[in-house]
Amino acid sequence: MSDTTPTASEAAIEASPTALREALRETILFARLDDEQLDHIAAAGSVQWLRRGVVVFEEGAEPGEFYLVLSGRVAIAQESDDGRESLLAVLGPGELFGEMGFLDGYNRSAQARALEESQVLMVPYAELRLLYENNPSALWSAVALLARRLRAMDRALSDTVFLDVMGRTAKRLLEMAGDDDEFEMPLTQEELASMVGASRERVNKAIHAFVKLGWMTHDQRHYKITNRRNLEIRAR
Ligand code: CMP
Repeated sequence: MSDTTPTASEAAIEASPTALREALRETILFARLDDEQLDHIAAAGSVQWLRRGVVVFEEGAEPGEFYLVLSGRVAIAQESDDGRESLLAVLGPGELFGEMGFLDGYNRSAQARALEESQVLMVPYAELRLLYENNPSALWSAVALLARRLRAMDRALSDTVFLDVMGRTAKRLLEMAGDDDEFEMPLTQEELASMVGASRERVNKAIHAFVKLGWMTHDQRHYKITNRRNLEIRAR
């Protein structure tokens, strides 16, 4: 990994041990651990700042650690043989990535890169090994994590069958917005299109249509949803 040196102001807001423990507790993987176990994991980890575009690891790389997103957003992406990209997920605070290499022993299944300035906690696999050796029942949470991801992928697969490009675009825009009607889009148009699973032109056309219908406005990356209900209906 490169370009992770924090500036003075970034270093000043580096997470405290207590904040790291609580951030770990919020995750599906570690929710059931006690304070001592969480503190061990937090102490074994290191906080890293990533600037926009920094690649945490490449698809196919040898794995050795997993990550927790503390702030910002991280994209999980795969590349086809001819260089096209498919964006599998955009992960935000509280979400983990890089654990699959630990669970199945294979190389990285996808690339991870920061979509905006992000802060992650990097924890070596050795710490997970120790945890599960001393505490085999903690592995149930790993099963739950994988099942949750499988559900999300099932839904995404169904969307490509049941929804048209406009529907999928509406759905992704709503996901990016979360509960807020105004938001900064962390993805480039190309990235958004690769997440929708359509060409940039078709996704742009869908966005233009939503603007024309009065459901949203946008200025560069600043989006404002003005008719959430209709956008939600279109995303079904
Ligand atoms: P790993 O294979 O070690 O490295 C790439 C990581 O991307 C992988 O672990 C998972 O943590 C994450 N990942 C892979 N596929 C998905 C997905 N469909 N949704 C969310 N995260 C994923």
